[in-house]
Amino acid sequence: MCGIVGYIGNRDGADIVLAGLKALEYRGYDSAGIALLDKKGTAHLFKQVGRVDGVEKLLLADDPGDAPAAIGHTRWATHGGPSVLNAHPHANSDESIFVVHNGIIENYAELKEWLIKEGAQFVSDTDTEVMAHLIDHYYKQSKSFEEAFTKALKEVRGAYAIVAMTTHEPGKLFAARLSSPMVIGVGKDECIVASDPSAILQHTKKVIYVQDNEMVIVEAGKCTITDLMHDKKVLRETETLDFDINQADLGDYPHFMLKEIYEAPQTIRLASLGRVNADTNTVKLGGLESVTTQLSHVDRIVIVACGTSYYAGLVGEYLLEEIAGIPVEVQLASEFKYRDEPFCRSTALLAISQSGETADTIAALKKVEDYGVLRLGIVNAVGSTIARMTDAGVYCHAGPEQAVASTKAFIAQVMVLTQIALNLAKEGHALYKPMLAEIEALPAKAEAVLKQADTIKAIAEKYKNYRDFLFIGRRYAYPVALEGALKLKEVSYIHAEGYAAGEMKHGPLAMIDENFPTFALAGDGPLLEKTISNMQEIRARKGKIVAVTTEGTKAVAQHADDAIYIPATLEQTEPILQAIVMQLFSYYVATAKGYNVDRPRNLAKSVTVE
Ligand code: M6R
Repeated sequence: MCGIVGYIGNRDGADIVLAGLKALEYRGYDSAGIALLDKKGTAHLFKQVGRVDGVEKLLLADDPGDAPAAIGHTRWATHGGPSVLNAHPHANSDESIFVVHNGIIENYAELKEWLIKEGAQFVSDTDTEVMAHLIDHYYKQSKSFEEAFTKALKEVRGAYAIVAMTTHEPGKLFAARLSSPMVIGVGKDECIVASDPSAILQHTKKVIYVQDNEMVIVEAGKCTITDLMHDKKVLRETETLDFDINQADLGDYPHFMLKEIYEAPQTIRLASLGRVNADTNTVKLGGLESVTTQLSHVDRIVIVACGTSYYAGLVGEYLLEEIAGIPVEVQLASEFKYRDEPFCRSTALLAISQSGETADTIAALKKVEDYGVLRLGIVNAVGSTIARMTDAGVYCHAGPEQAVASTKAFIAQVMVLTQIALNLAKEGHALYKPMLAEIEALPAKAEAVLKQADTIKAIAEKYKNYRDFLFIGRRYAYPVALEGALKLKEVSYIHAEGYAAGEMKHGPLAMIDENFPTFALAGDGPLLEKTISNMQEIRARKGKIVAVTTEGTKAVAQHADDAIYIPATLEQTEPILQAIVMQLFSYYVATAKGYNVDRPRNLAKSVTVE
């Protein structure tokens, strides 16, 4: 989704902003732009549909010299299609004020109408351009940029991370946020403002997270923060980013998606490191210790999440109900926000998010802000909005996930959910000990699944030209079927649906014929025979089947056209191994079709608008 980078200092801001925008490319975008102020304070603007490289070429051709101040943006179209005019930065009529913005200004139409009557000339279809003209309007009245920026912020409704730069005060950037992430890297004699720490960390690990309703005047090596709600200055120490820059490199892999799938064994280890100890028979979750008493009063958990995180939540529902004995409901965050339902204080809300910045999930947490309920998080991105707005939580420790399709985050989320279930389990639960032992064995089993990549690749080649695909599973395998279908859809653009295997005969079976294959998750669990019956029903209608089953299980292959074997594990930990198969299958189908697997069309890594 959209990305922001701004620089102020004594190096060339254009270089730093362009490098920062490239570091944000993984988030997905359709156009890009940069505005800079050269050493004389003269403004230059370069915008382009397509990649940041294109903007860099425009800049090199123009050669404006070093720029001590610059702001740049990668845009993922919301208001108005991808075009040079709609790309950010946006400017006021005389190009003395430039803004970049993430989020949505909800009242932009009425503001635009009013500003046009006041004489502003708009050139784009965007909501963001309103901000440039609005600041200009107030600047003309007061000749104070800080006052004009603040007044403009108070006029707009919606969500924003916004950075403004002006020829009136070339030594400053003006930044603000509301419900959209913003972080400022503070270096020696320079500052870098960004929507995501990955744009900053090649320069400094000292950062300040901007909070909602704050306005920041950013100067070389210095930030002045104002709390706009209470009209007072805020003192905030810098924090140190906990982020390993090498993890963001592709290494020898052709794509981030493949690299991240291959990180599964390490992901499992890191998600349980220092937490699970089979020798002492303990599961220790430091992030939940401060709320142990509150947790003991919780009698229901509502999980909110989107996309892959939602499917991890569905696996969590099975785990928490079976192992911890707590009733769980999993809701799509985008629906939860607009739903009227009774909510007791003994219910805890658990938000799951890889990025920690998903607008719908943040909105779900905000909805219950005044309910007095415990708000928990399972988040991967350290220091992200969700990590900071929840009362307590458990980090996934999966490291940065660059591919738009979430892979290792799902593995880490399910691992964390497993540990929360065990942590909350009643003493002596029959699954407690076997699961601790199995968690320790899982990395090696994940390695064994990865060794089957060639088999999975060959199967992907065979099935890559089908237009539709069904994924089925029962119990713990059902959410994995949903996730498998999502993975295939988003990277290969093949229509795919996930279904509970037992539900097939209630409708979807009607679609099955020789052109509609099924991926059947048929592990050697308590419901294997029933899943095999469902497979037979499909084959009786000439449907082709790829089965994922347990090593040593002979019963499945005879009912399938192709079979992939995974090591034996508990039914409760099987989603982790099945997910790796699904991820590899989708990856190989998409690459065989020649698609950009890391940046699928129309999608963004972090969905920061509702
Ligand atoms: O960062 P989050 O986990 O909150 O993101 C949620 C979804 O946007 C995300 O899982 C999305 O569905 C991915 N593209 C799935 O691969």
